Amino acid sequence: MKIWVPMDSAAKALGADDVAEAIGVQAAARGIEIELIRNGSRGMVWLEPLVEVEIDGVRHGFGPALPSDAAAILDGSSAKALGPVDDLDWMQRQTRLTFARCGVIDPLSLDDFEAHGGLTGLRRAIAMSGAEIVQEVTASGLRGRGGAGFPTGIKWNTVLQAQADRKYIVCNADEGDSGTFADRMIMEGDPFTLIEGMAIAGLGVGATKGFVYLRSEYPDAIKVMNTAVKIARQKGILGDDVMGSGRAFDMEIRVGAGAYVCGEETSLLNSLEGKRGVVRAKPPLPALEGFLGKPTVVNNVISLATVPVILAKGAQHYADFGLGRSRGTVALQIAGNVARGGLFETAFGMSLGEVIDDIAGGSASGRPVKAVQVGGPLGAYLPREKFDTALGYEELDAEGGLIGHAGLVVFDDATDMLQMARFAMEFCAVESCGKCTPCRIGAVRGVETIDRIARGDADALPLLADLCETMTDGSLCALGGFTPYPVMSAVTHFPDDFATAKEAAE
Ligand code: NAI
Ligand code: SF4
Repeated sequence: MKIWVPMDSAAKALGADDVAEAIGVQAAARGIEIELIRNGSRGMVWLEPLVEVEIDGVRHGFGPALPSDAAAILDGSSAKALGPVDDLDWMQRQTRLTFARCGVIDPLSLDDFEAHGGLTGLRRAIAMSGAEIVQEVTASGLRGRGGAGFPTGIKWNTVLQAQADRKYIVCNADEGDSGTFADRMIMEGDPFTLIEGMAIAGLGVGATKGFVYLRSEYPDAIKVMNTAVKIARQKGILGDDVMGSGRAFDMEIRVGAGAYVCGEETSLLNSLEGKRGVVRAKPPLPALEGFLGKPTVVNNVISLATVPVILAKGAQHYADFGLGRSRGTVALQIAGNVARGGLFETAFGMSLGEVIDDIAGGSASGRPVKAVQVGGPLGAYLPREKFDTALGYEELDAEGGLIGHAGLVVFDDATDMLQMARFAMEFCAVESCGKCTPCRIGAVRGVETIDRIARGDADALPLLADLCETMTDGSLCALGGFTPYPVMSAVTHFPDDFATAKEAAE
């Protein structure tokens, strides 16, 4: 009997290890021979730990499972039976390209990876020139999934064209946005996909060395990635002669020390070089002068993990999904006050309302949804009136927001948006690297100004708008420059929460 219990850290936090142990104990007591596989998560966090049992060749789900459910799951009498996992509405409605294998395979089995299409992209890339690989990625329309949405192929082309004795691929796995977990999920659930994507990137731009800069808060992902790199090296996927092509590419995992700003690419590069994680001025772009001053591709985990499927199925297949200039799929991470939270991969273009009301089932509290923050702590708070906005880079931008790393954090009507604006400023004050004044000092003044608004000081509201304008125009990086998004969106869309000041002004 084949049984899967996730080893994903969200599932583990919800008790997956105890459930796995209980299944082992109960199976032994019943004399049932089982093959227990620790898979990644399917992304339905509200059902974790989600146990899967193979019945007549089909994987049936049981969840959320407790250790005390183990006996009934084995006996086939569990009230937590969900039916075939692939038939669940959440799975059926997705377009899983990047996450096709996540939760399906044993993350550290290369055989399982290959049996589900792994290495097809790398094999194709090996037969292509660097320029052809870069052209394929450009044609797919893939844009940076870390948040900025810069076209990946164009970035790669800058590195390809640069003349240098060494080039590097750096994967930004410092996933710091609140409410996001897509990078972690893929690293824990399908690590070879990221390795494959980095190897393709190396062959594409002529880089022979790669680094994954992984945040220290992700100990499980660090462990899985380190093991996967070792296996890939043993099997010749990494090393001097990548899969017999004679083209070298190797990589290693480096662990960050835990600063939000180290997710900013130049700060990350400083940290990777052993320096303090302070933002560098751009230009020069990392694509020309990056790690140790050499041309460097810095891409987010999801961007790199999407490259294998693009090479495997062809650029056009990927580009056929999406909306406008947002091609392909987006890995939405639905979190906060929702009935059903988790990872939902879909073609760009679904409306915010469909995701929140329909897919996520509204709020967990049962109260009306008041706002959603899209794109992490630097993203705008959008009210229900904006819920017909389509999920796409330009579409969110037109509403004064950003899709960022595609995190959606939902709030119900009990939320005080003034406090949320204060939180945004406080976050910036704590995480600022200190290099520039509008961010380092502005964020502290921002907290004080919002406190004045809360006390009913009418003069403080225009001051806050002024301060936000200065931060937007005068900050060196997105931390200081984008903090005004959540702050001013709260002021604009939820004026009632700032009403004390308004009333005092009148
Ligand atoms: P950016 O717009 O400065 O740059 C985007 C990327 O394009 C960079 O890698 C840059 O080096 C590259 N680039 C620009 N012109 C290029 C050219 N001609 N050739 C080659 N490469 C070129 O944006 P930035 O500051 O890198 O990122 C800001 C974004 O980060 C925000 O939109 C925010 O959503 C996101 N973010 C993500 C977080 C996460 O946890 N994933 C955390 C915080 C922010
Ligand atoms: Fe550092 Fe803030 Fe300036 Fe960014 S905006 S460089 S985090 S001080």
